[in-house]
Amino acid sequence: MKQSIKEILKGKPIGTEVTVCGWVRTFRSNQFAAVSDGSCIQTIQVVVDHEATDPGLLKRITTGSAIIATGTLLASQGKGQDVELKATHIEVVGDADPEKYPLQPKRHSMEFLREIAHLRIRTNTFGAVMRIRHSLAYAIHHFFHERGFFYFHSPVITGSDAEGAGEMFRVTTLPLNKIPFTPEGAVDVKKDFFQKETNLTVSGQLEAELAALALSRVYTFGPTFRAENSNTTRHLAEFWMIEPEVAFFDLQDDMDLAESMLQYVISFALEHCADDIQFLKERQEQEEASKPQAERSPMDLVSKLKFVVDNKFERLTYGEAIEILKNSTPNKKGKFQYPIEGWGTDLQSEHERYLVEKHFQKPVILTNYPKEIKAFYMRVDEGEKTVSAMDILFPAIGEIVGGSQREERLDVLTRRMEEMHVPLEEMQWYLDTRRFGTCKHAGFGLGFERLVLFVTGMSNIRDVIPFPRTPGNAEF
Ligand code: 4AD
Ligand code: MG
Repeated sequence: MKQSIKEILKGKPIGTEVTVCGWVRTFRSNQFAAVSDGSCIQTIQVVVDHEATDPGLLKRITTGSAIIATGTLLASQGKGQDVELKATHIEVVGDADPEKYPLQPKRHSMEFLREIAHLRIRTNTFGAVMRIRHSLAYAIHHFFHERGFFYFHSPVITGSDAEGAGEMFRVTTLPLNKIPFTPEGAVDVKKDFFQKETNLTVSGQLEAELAALALSRVYTFGPTFRAENSNTTRHLAEFWMIEPEVAFFDLQDDMDLAESMLQYVISFALEHCADDIQFLKERQEQEEASKPQAERSPMDLVSKLKFVVDNKFERLTYGEAIEILKNSTPNKKGKFQYPIEGWGTDLQSEHERYLVEKHFQKPVILTNYPKEIKAFYMRVDEGEKTVSAMDILFPAIGEIVGGSQREERLDVLTRRMEEMHVPLEEMQWYLDTRRFGTCKHAGFGLGFERLVLFVTGMSNIRDVIPFPRTPGNAEF
């Protein structure tokens, strides 16, 4: 295997012959090509002997062209790099017509880049985001593996609605122009591929619970789908979720696991993606400089990440949070779009962000929400008003993790499912875990893109997944 630019820049084999394969970012003075191969944020400078090179070839070394350059690695005289490649042979293997190539060496808007998502991966920003995304995924697997968890694969196509919110994408092979109906006028699902109604999963949790009651510690890490019509900077219709599930765990254990996992993966990124994070930090600082003072974030990206790694998260109940919010200045001054009237209201992201960014100024874990606003599987607390739920709230993001202790008591669970109109007949397999060898257990779901959003400091979730799916958008 040829050496990557990252390996060459690290090993610095000065005086030896090396070959660089990559794409030209810029070509200055018909002499200095900055070449990237995506292995790291840095480019390598390829010095072209323009007098000895065919002018026809020189003209083809343009932004975006693919080249293979061989030569001697030398200590660089110029500013900005320690080493450079003095090319003895250059081949342009893929031209990029400068008249037509949409990426130019200047700053493009995020909106424009979303339209050319197939090419935006070649920019510094998206290269950095994709490398960090990879490292976070790796760190998550590492974290769980080291702690004896098994990676469990929940199905993508399922018949159940784990969250009971009805926000599902239907999976069918029925012809849309000739849908078969039953004599009663309903869609005849017996004629469909699976002979039943199916959809893309909104969460792998229910199947992970089955596995936890056999393997004790498991986690899923897969794509999940939500047909919610939310056009926000934090919602995707297709996103990746990490869902650990642990037998004999209660809510406290669950929070401890989530907090230590977040701190572990963020410190992993700080250590292993330092150059990319530094690049994004500087990028963010330039962006901040153009904002009014009041909207600027008080901490730079690196300090913000270190802060989360070094400080314990604040834990309080939903009820305590409501009291804080009710008495808060923005609530009293009518600044919240959704005023807090009292116990029972669902929290909006403006409330979550107030708690995290203004009141506590650190990540917050809220627990024991009213049972009416949470899913059927959460364990009912004593007093029957609340459930053993927990949400972790992060600065700039709001909810990053949602989890709970699960209802392990068959009678209580059955009653809750009936109350919430969850189809009991179709969920017998789920209830079997409570019938046979039930035990307390807990788990949570971490939205992977929200984590990547936090670690990269990007401002829109569409810019931390290669090809975002949102209402009206499923290009590429
Ligand atoms: O809070 P949610 O809906 O919880 C569940 O799905 C549970 N089954 C998890 C569990 O206990 N195993 O989603 C979990 C997390 C959220 O906290 C958020 O980070 C992310 O998934 N999330 C989304 N991320 C991007 N786009 C969306 N539309 C999201 N919906 C949820
Ligand atoms: Mg949630």
